[in-house]
Amino acid sequence: MSSESARILAANSQVIASLQEGDLLGYDQEGRLYVQKSGEESQKTQRVFEEAQAKTLKQEKGQAIVLATQKHFETLDSKEFLGTYRKVLQVINQDQVLSTVDKKNLVDALYQSHYKHLCNEGIDPVTAEATITIMMSFDPEVDPETKERISPSRATGGMSGAYYIRNREGEKIGVFKPRDEEPYMPNNPNRCKRRDTGAIRTEMRNGQASGTACYKEVIAYEVLGDFAPIPPTTFIEVYFPRSLREKDRELILKFGSFQRFVEGYTLDTMRNLDVESIPVLDLQKMAFSDIVGYNADRSMGNMMYDSEKNQLHCIDQGVTFLSSLDWNLPPDDILAEVSCHWGDFPQCRGPILPEVKDWILGLDENKIESIIRSRMQMVLTQENAPSTGDLEKYINGIVVSNKTLILFIKKAAEKGCTLSQIGEMVMEIESENETDPKVPMIQKICRETSAAREANNPNFLVDPWKFVSDTMDKYLEDIH
Ligand SMILES: Nc1ncnc2c1ncn2[C@@H]1O[C@H](COP(=O)(O)OP(=O)(O)OP(=O)(O)O)[C@@H](O)[C@H]1O
Ligand SMILES: [Mg+2]
Repeated sequence: MSSESARILAANSQVIASLQEGDLLGYDQEGRLYVQKSGEESQKTQRVFEEAQAKTLKQEKGQAIVLATQKHFETLDSKEFLGTYRKVLQVINQDQVLSTVDKKNLVDALYQSHYKHLCNEGIDPVTAEATITIMMSFDPEVDPETKERISPSRATGGMSGAYYIRNREGEKIGVFKPRDEEPYMPNNPNRCKRRDTGAIRTEMRNGQASGTACYKEVIAYEVLGDFAPIPPTTFIEVYFPRSLREKDRELILKFGSFQRFVEGYTLDTMRNLDVESIPVLDLQKMAFSDIVGYNADRSMGNMMYDSEKNQLHCIDQGVTFLSSLDWNLPPDDILAEVSCHWGDFPQCRGPILPEVKDWILGLDENKIESIIRSRMQMVLTQENAPSTGDLEKYINGIVVSNKTLILFIKKAAEKGCTLSQIGEMVMEIESENETDPKVPMIQKICRETSAAREANNPNFLVDPWKFVSDTMDKYLEDIH
């Protein structure tokens, strides 16, 4: 580029930067841009604008606007993108100074520069790509063909709103689950509508507060993802239709979890599924992370299997890290709600694999606690958040439940218990015999601890965690 063109480009970029709603944009034979502020008219700009409207000139010089706009956007940080984009496109549209092709190229280039900014700001490339294609999908400036290729589509079968997100080539790259569409939240697409918008509600499970599933998804990945086959999961905040139904498409700012797309089928939809072909290591890793992560929803629909690669994936960690083993609650409120459908898989019957056992014994409950606390504190920044006090209590309940489960499975693993034995000790059991219900061992231990707390048992008062530990040893003594 000659020094003269570089100078014009820099000056043009400043013109673009100064645009306000209602301004008019024009350019001269050299490709210099001019802006006519709304309400002002000078003889010179008048002439420029008349020339600019001439079709031939438009074709030749549209490039000046494209280049200058791109250059200006390179200097913006990501927070300024949307406002500036709207303003500039508004002026460009009103003047009709760009051909359809130039406009499409410009829009693509601006989103590409926004993508680069997001990546430079530390957002991983897949999440940045998802942010871009979601924005483009609902942008009136983007052409219908592109939208058709990249727009989100609803994943069927779930309780909450879950949407496949695509990249700019149209390939699925992830699943977005907005917080406002979780069960019992205002825009839930299914039956689970929330009746009020007050503090924490726990209709779904005792230990699960509505509006926290997206945090649980991210916590589960951050705590367990190094070990279990959980696809990378992050947060995302984007303008998204209230619903994808025709009538209700108003764009609102939505926050939620974004999980990397994985190939395969959920086990509930696999005909001729041969459970035995799932690798033992994958299965044991999933199962133990379900226990550590207090998963109340590891149904067949929440395990995916890629039979081509012989690989298992854990999806849907929304109902995890429950609080209902918290022995600071009254004994009757304590419930073992771990619920997983791998209990009778053959991979659970043999001994725990050494790699899995090492992971269990090496779990650092304090590190996990700090992840839980920092992520769950973020709930306070959201709409329909509980009060600080209620949230604090809920988080403490999650931490106590998690530490209790970790202490318990460390002991059980050291004792040589198998996965299916440990599963039975921690999982809720649907008993057919109402008069003699089977109570999971972990529930008995936590209720006994809670009763000791209520009775001011001196051993509990001196050291609650030693009390819990001794109670566990007592229950585990007879297990072989
Ligand atoms: N990471 C992923 N990769 C590929 N497909 C996925 C992924 N996550 C979810 N899906 C698909 O989307 C569907 C719904 O997702 P998910 O199970 O997370 O939602 P949900 O509404 O919480 O479900 P549930 O009814 O089990 O609570 C799944 O059944 C699966 O087909
Ligand atoms: Mg599911």
